[in-house]
Amino acid sequence: MIFTVAIDGPAAAGKGTVGRAVATHFGFAHLDTGLLYRAVGAQVLAGADPVEAARGLTPEALAAPGLRSPEVARAASEVAVIGEVRAALLEFQRSFARREGGAVLDGRDIGTVICPEAEVKLFVTASAEARAARRLAELVAAGVETDFGAVLEDVRARDLRDSGRAEAPLRPADDAHLLDTSELDVEQAVAAAVAQVAERL
Ligand code: C5P
Repeated sequence: MIFTVAIDGPAAAGKGTVGRAVATHFGFAHLDTGLLYRAVGAQVLAGADPVEAARGLTPEALAAPGLRSPEVARAASEVAVIGEVRAALLEFQRSFARREGGAVLDGRDIGTVICPEAEVKLFVTASAEARAARRLAELVAAGVETDFGAVLEDVRARDLRDSGRAEAPLRPADDAHLLDTSELDVEQAVAAAVAQVAERL
């Protein structure tokens, strides 16, 4: 069975959590596409050329430690504006999406660019404040020293960069189902997403 669930949305809206849970629920494979851009960003911070890093991306690079840091997130959103970087990562994502057995991909342009033919498209969003509060809790749990104001500023800067760029800007596909998680806990958000998929399966 070929069946793609495309999940897009801004940073820290819960799309990773929702994507993983949907994949587990239905036994589908899951790809966090942000990790591809983070791996490229991390290599650029280490001195690599962004386009060469994207073309030569390996599974080991996706498992590198430190990819979740705010510095790497910023570098990721900077390399993500480069058309040749996006082009180099396209084919891998498309073939993952159409693999046998079902796939969930989460990112910024899955429903609009990578998989316009996805069977289910979800746009997971939440207010900037709700997202900053969640990201702050994650960072504090990981031992990173920061405060709410700094995290909120970072979330807003990334939103602007992701939505304002010319190449594959963040926006809901016309046929995406909107899921606002501002007032939902994880279980409620996952249940809503599972229901959307179940309806079309
Ligand atoms: O989702 P995550 O925060 O890990 O993504 C890091 C950055 O990678 C995003 O801010 C965005 O600029 C970029 N990205 C993208 N397209 C995707 C996934 C991530 O441009 N499909």
